[in-house]
Amino acid sequence: MSIQHFLSIADLTPETLWHILELGRDLKEEWKAGGNRPLLKGKTLGMLFQKPSLRTRVSFEMGMIHLGGGAIYLSPQEVQLGQRESVPDVARVLSRYVDAIMARVFAHAHVEQLAAHSRVPVINGLSDYSHPCQALADLLTIWEIKGRLEGIRLAYVGDGNNVARSLAFAAALTGIHMVAASPEGYALDEGTVARSRALAEAGGGSLRLTTDPVEAVRDADVIYTDVWASMGQEAEAERRRQVFRPYQVNAALVAQAPPDVIVMHCLPAHRGEEITDEVIDGPRSVVFHQAENRLHAQKGLLVWLLGAMG
Ligand code: CP
Ligand code: NVA
Repeated sequence: MSIQHFLSIADLTPETLWHILELGRDLKEEWKAGGNRPLLKGKTLGMLFQKPSLRTRVSFEMGMIHLGGGAIYLSPQEVQLGQRESVPDVARVLSRYVDAIMARVFAHAHVEQLAAHSRVPVINGLSDYSHPCQALADLLTIWEIKGRLEGIRLAYVGDGNNVARSLAFAAALTGIHMVAASPEGYALDEGTVARSRALAEAGGGSLRLTTDPVEAVRDADVIYTDVWASMGQEAEAERRRQVFRPYQVNAALVAQAPPDVIVMHCLPAHRGEEITDEVIDGPRSVVFHQAENRLHAQKGLLVWLLGAMG
């Protein structure tokens, strides 16, 4: 039987995506009520990092602890993926010790290579292409706060990056109508648009690109932003600060949206760049609720992947 990995939201059907979200929601309710079922008792997650992290590392580690298992953090210096040892060899060895691997990498090809050579499920904990675990938490958050996903209007304002791409696939599969406003040259690529439209045939969502942030937020239920320069793009940060300035999510932009709009950000935030203090700390912001949901959504993912509840 082939191994189930979690490399991209686009690999899921709407049914599977909803199954993971429902597991996450149920586990969250149990945990909030003081319960913790040891569904992954004795199981271990190996966590490989090529980049820094707060949320991904701690939420996966705590998720495994809640479920009765454990997690091992492997720092960039330790494994030196693809440098000290080839990516396939890392997968071959690590997957003989642990029950699942979560990897945060620069090149998406590296999570694909890990999956191709692993005996156990591989989870993409962020690559230059996508951030599917973030999208799970984002969907859970919108679902909890707005009571539905179908028909939600989501305005993504900023870089057409890994987070935006996973969000676009997630929106397509769950009936969310997403508009992504990016400066020219920084929009989501054509392949992502095509893939998202194909997924929308099954899920009922949509994706539209624009360069106008005000037009994007006018009918929005959700405004979402992310950093202008992602990890690995530090050399471009200054140039990007100039290009993206009109795309800042500030009080003036939020005022163009309906009054019940919520504001999301995957974090870490560069306060004063893509989002102002006033907005991130303001009444429309749900960013810390969203950050907490990384824990709950990923518990659903782990339980699904490791087969504890089908
Ligand atoms: N949102 C997110 O993935 O945060 P970290 O980079 O801290 O893991
Ligand atoms: N787009 C950002 C997300 C960080 C969680 C990055 O890749 O750095």
